[in-house]
Amino acid sequence: MQEQISALRDALTAQIGSAADLQALEDIRVAALGKKGSVSGLMKGLGGMSPEERKEMGPALNGLKTEVADALAARKDVLEDAALEARLTAERVDVTLPVMDHPAGTIHPVSQVMDEIAEIFASLGFDVAEGPDLESDFHNFTALNIPEEHPARQDHDTFYLTPDENGDRKVLRTHTSPVQIRTMLSKKPPIRIIAPGRTYRNDSDATHTPMFHQVEGLVIDRDTHLGHLKGTLEAFLKAFFEVDAVTLRLRPSYFPFTEPSMEVDVQCSFNEGSVKIGDGNDWLEILGSGMVHPNVLRACNLDPNEYQGFAFGVGIDRLAMLKYGMNDLRAFFDADLRWLKHYGFAALDLPTIAGGLSK
Ligand code: DAH
Repeated sequence: MQEQISALRDALTAQIGSAADLQALEDIRVAALGKKGSVSGLMKGLGGMSPEERKEMGPALNGLKTEVADALAARKDVLEDAALEARLTAERVDVTLPVMDHPAGTIHPVSQVMDEIAEIFASLGFDVAEGPDLESDFHNFTALNIPEEHPARQDHDTFYLTPDENGDRKVLRTHTSPVQIRTMLSKKPPIRIIAPGRTYRNDSDATHTPMFHQVEGLVIDRDTHLGHLKGTLEAFLKAFFEVDAVTLRLRPSYFPFTEPSMEVDVQCSFNEGSVKIGDGNDWLEILGSGMVHPNVLRACNLDPNEYQGFAFGVGIDRLAMLKYGMNDLRAFFDADLRWLKHYGFAALDLPTIAGGLSK
């Protein structure tokens, strides 16, 4: 009997080891452990044995059964892995495309201008800050000195979201100015940041789209003054428009979050629909700016007697239109490949101050 068991073990082990696929393995399982299987047949014989014999053969047969079951399971793992591997190879799809056969994509002018702006301000020691597109009322308005009933709220054509269960109503940020608040609340002065990003207003024509881009600037320190603002903007606009000099005109204006506030114009000339920045007889309004209002500093837990600073906000799309000569903002977001090919920039040509921003 012992010999029979050991012969069966050898035979089954060999069969299992060479089973070529899952079906063959299943056949071996049934032939050994199934109701009429060889191992089960030997187990049935236990009933007719003397108690002594049974005491010896019982454990031996159970051991055989376990060994065979383990060997089957191990072989099954191996075969399943192999089957998966075969399927992965057979069903493989090559998602790559040969580069040379296809037209290269280009960098969108908005991305290009954002990169140019970041590059210029990095060279002036500014960091890039970010904030969410979905803003709280506090960050977008209240902390910027635009309280609940302030008329400026109406100017913004705000997209409001449905209020949550607490009655809190988020907005799609109407400007990048809330990033000023987030920055002042999260780090100590000195602060020198720009915050480029998407902004939203319910407005649409040749120079307005419901989603557009702005870049915010913020500098806070103990002795920052209006001269610093003017110098920074001059350095920025000169570098951006790639001209040797710009002349700025600061016009008194009103923004709730700055005092004094001014609109900045650059001197320019218009020639057959294209604009040349730097000299000429015309002025082009380019951005809003001012000294950060004491109420805004207070809302960010900064003492206005200790800290002061300046801020500015620029429309990125408008800068792109002026610099690269497009006249319809809506085309920026039409995803028309012909437009993108015409106005886009080479994909690997990152703007650098040293290498030329746009060349
Ligand atoms: N947030 C203003 C807007 O969207 C632009 C602006 C004006 C930003 C003056 C500023 C600023 O930081 O000082 O119309």
